[in-house]
Amino acid sequence: MSQRQSVPELSNPVADGTAFIDGEYTPIAEARIPITDWGFLRSDVTYDVVAVWGGGFFRLDDHLDRFFRGIGKLHMQAPHDRDEIKGILAECVSRSGLREAYVEMILTRGTPPPGGRDPRTCENRFYALAIPYVWIASPEKQEQGLHMTISSVPRIAPESVDPTVKNFHWGDMVKGLFEAYDQDRDTVVLTDGKGNITEGPGFNLFANIDGRLVTPASGVLLGITRKTVIELAESLNVKVDVGTLTEAELRQADEIFISSTAGGVMPITRLDDNAIGDGGPGPLTLRLRQMYWDAHDDDKYVTRIDYR
Ligand SMILES: Cc1ncc(COP(=O)(O)O)c(C=O)c1O
Repeated sequence: MSQRQSVPELSNPVADGTAFIDGEYTPIAEARIPITDWGFLRSDVTYDVVAVWGGGFFRLDDHLDRFFRGIGKLHMQAPHDRDEIKGILAECVSRSGLREAYVEMILTRGTPPPGGRDPRTCENRFYALAIPYVWIASPEKQEQGLHMTISSVPRIAPESVDPTVKNFHWGDMVKGLFEAYDQDRDTVVLTDGKGNITEGPGFNLFANIDGRLVTPASGVLLGITRKTVIELAESLNVKVDVGTLTEAELRQADEIFISSTAGGVMPITRLDDNAIGDGGPGPLTLRLRQMYWDAHDDDKYVTRIDYR
């Protein structure tokens, strides 16, 4: 009887991703941050996530603009300038060899001197990472559409935590997600506590109401995917209202979809006990989803990565 030979697997130690910490690139599994960093201890941090698709960043400059705006609002200072950050992000991706990636840049408050607690004395720290692309809903799941609930947990008040600064204050959204899972729903959207829709865990929301798209103006992150959807819809001469969207209006919508860097344009086909439209992804949703992915071949939006 011949003995089965074991063949060592060819592996790339950074195929699961690469991180940049303190000037060093490390495989994602070995990446470590200092436990005293207030980014971890106090959620005193801002971040951004840009997608890589087909070997190119999608709307990298828009993501960097938002990241630097957030840094300014938090009275922080990045230790790298914009071009250096572009280089670091590209290096994280190219070292991993990922053609489709989820690329995150993070600026934390850092650690105060021993015994201190004044945020002004902290040296802000920059981290970055590239990991395989992340989907809020897989392409297979998107064929059928997602089942959503409207949470009883209101979104954290914008007067307390500015939602336009991308942040780690996810307690409300995680609470909402568990509410959704307890009812066998896939996801959740939160209101402002006064009957107006805001956003959900990692996404903005759009409703098609009588041929007009409505998306909340306030209490939300100004999503880059949201911005793309608005541009694409306007190119189709579809009117977009960036305004208020009440819970009652959402329940009557003809179509609903969510938008995120983590998955693009994703149909919602059930809201609590009711089907939306005919219960399948709506025609405008499908059109915009196709246009969104087509835009990933458009040089106007794409920054190619040199994989050497
Ligand atoms: C709270 C929240 N809203 C909206 C979005 C969508 O933003 P973008 O389209 O820029 O990914 C995100 C993305 O992670 C998010 O965290």
